Amino acid sequence: MKEIYLDNAATSYPKAPGVSEAISFYLSSIGCNVNRGAYKKAYQAEEIVFETRELLCRLFHFDKPEHVIFTKNITESLNVIIKGLLKPGDHVIVSSMEHNAVMRPLNSLKNRNLEVTTLECNTEGELSEEQLKLFPSLVKPHTKAVIMTAASNVCGTMLPLKEVGKICREHHIFFIVDSAQTAGFSEIDMNLHHIDALAFTGHKGLLGPQGIGGFLINESLAAVMDSLIEGGTGSFSELETQPAYLPDKFEAGTLNVPGIFGLNAALKYLFQIGIGTIREQELHLLDLFMLRLLEIPQIRLVGKRDLRKRTSIVSIDLPNHDCSELSYRLYKEYGIMTRSGLHCAPSAHRTLGTFPQGTLRFSFNHFNTDKEALQTIDCVRQSLKLQVLSKSRQPPRSRPPQ
Ligand code: ALA
Repeated sequence: MKEIYLDNAATSYPKAPGVSEAISFYLSSIGCNVNRGAYKKAYQAEEIVFETRELLCRLFHFDKPEHVIFTKNITESLNVIIKGLLKPGDHVIVSSMEHNAVMRPLNSLKNRNLEVTTLECNTEGELSEEQLKLFPSLVKPHTKAVIMTAASNVCGTMLPLKEVGKICREHHIFFIVDSAQTAGFSEIDMNLHHIDALAFTGHKGLLGPQGIGGFLINESLAAVMDSLIEGGTGSFSELETQPAYLPDKFEAGTLNVPGIFGLNAALKYLFQIGIGTIREQELHLLDLFMLRLLEIPQIRLVGKRDLRKRTSIVSIDLPNHDCSELSYRLYKEYGIMTRSGLHCAPSAHRTLGTFPQGTLRFSFNHFNTDKEALQTIDCVRQSLKLQVLSKSRQPPRSRPPQ
C-alpha cells in the first residue's frame, strides 16, 4: 500500500530537495561551531548561518539580518517574545484562533497580573470587518501588544494581518505574528503588515528540518524586551551579563547549525520554485479536494469556503461520526496520514463550534498529487460507509449511571 501524507500542518513531508544533503554535508564535512573558533571551517559555517538570516529577511521583507534570531521552534520563539516583553500590569490582545504556543505562555503570565483580551472570530474562524471595527475599542492605556496567528492551524482561515497591523501602528502597540501555518506559501511582508516581531518555524511550510525556528524583530521591540535564555554567545566573554546587541541578546548557547544548513537549502528551493507557484499548486489541489468533499453528506467543512482566504488545510466536522475513528481507519486501511482532535488549539475549536469533539484535518503541500487527493476522497467515502456498518452491528450503549 502506497502511503499518502496529509499532515503537513503538523510538519511537512517530504522536505525540500537538498535539505538532507545540506545537513549531511555539515555533519560530515564541517561540524564546527560558529562565533567561537578562528579557523576556516568555522568561517564556512558562519557564512551559511549569515546567508540563512539574509534569506529569511528576503522572504519576510525585512532588512536587518542581525535581527533574525534562531531558536529551536516557533513555540520557543513565542515564549522568548512573550516572556521577554510582557510585565505585570500589561494588557495584551489575541484572536480566538490562537494555538497553545501563544495561549499557554500568556495564561501562565496571568498569575503575574497580565491581562489578556480575546477578540472573537466568527464561526468560520474569520476576523470580519465588524469585528475589526470593534478592535480599537479593546485597546487600553496599558495595552502592550497584539499577538495573532497569520492563519488557523485548525481550519486554515487566514487572518487580516495588514488591517490589524495598521490598527496596532495607529495605537502604538506592538504587533507580533505567529507564521507557523503560512510561512513558505503565503506572502508575509513585515513592512507592509506593520509587524514588529514575526515568529517562524523551519519544519512546516518552509520545508526544512525540525529543531530550527526563530523570529525576526525590529529595533524598538528588541530594545524593550528582556532576554529569556542567557549564556555564552562567543562575544564579550569578559562579561558575565548578556550582551545587549542582536542577535546575541537572544541567541545564547550553541545554535542548531545542522538545522540551519537544512533550512538554508529549503529556503533556496522555495525561492527557486517561487512562493506564488507553490501557492497556486496547493490551491489547485485544495479546489479539487474540497469540491468533492462537499458532496459527501455526512461531512461539514470547517472554516472558509473561499479558497483565497484559506491555507491548504481542510478540516471536517462529522456530526454523526467519530473523527478520530475515521482518521484511524484512513491510516489503517488506506495508509492515509491525517490528524484528528483538538490540534493544540482549544480556543479555535470553541470558536468554530467543534469543541470538545475536534475535527479531522487533511493538510496538503505542493508535493501532493491530484491522484492522492482523489484517492483520499474515495477512501473517506468508503470508510464512512464501513463506520456506519460497524456501528449498526454494535449493541446499543447502555445508559451511564446517573
Ligand atoms: N501545531 C501543529 C499542528 O497543528 C503541530 O499539527
